[in-house]
Amino acid sequence: MTEATARLIVCSTCRHSADEPVDADGVSGGRRLLEAVTTAAGAAPELRIEEQACLWACRSHCTVYLAQGGKPGYLAGTFTPTADAAEAIVDFARRYAASPDGAVPYRDWPEGMKGHFIARLPQDA
Ligand code: FES
Repeated sequence: MTEATARLIVCSTCRHSADEPVDADGVSGGRRLLEAVTTAAGAAPELRIEEQACLWACRSHCTVYLAQGGKPGYLAGTFTPTADAAEAIVDFARRYAASPDGAVPYRDWPEGMKGHFIARLPQDA
């Protein structure tokens, strides 16, 4: 049985770029991506946006983790903290939340998600 809401967890501490941990305002890339994802998600009832300091995938900044009870989890990264990246992440997350088993057919992947997945993790027992 799956939970009703998918968790979209954004690393809040990821670097802004390879050369810059933070932007000119001193804000991390992860924090910027979190802001963009929150805006893109709006009031979507099927998603719960969360933050976590470090998802242990720092080399692939900026990173996100998508999870929902009864489904495998997806870790993705190498995003730039932009509105376009956030739209792709939220689009995929909505499709994931709507799927019965967490499988989103490749043909339905947003272009902005292709090449960004790091791991598909088995669901909790
Ligand atoms: S700081 Fe973002 S994954 Fe480690």
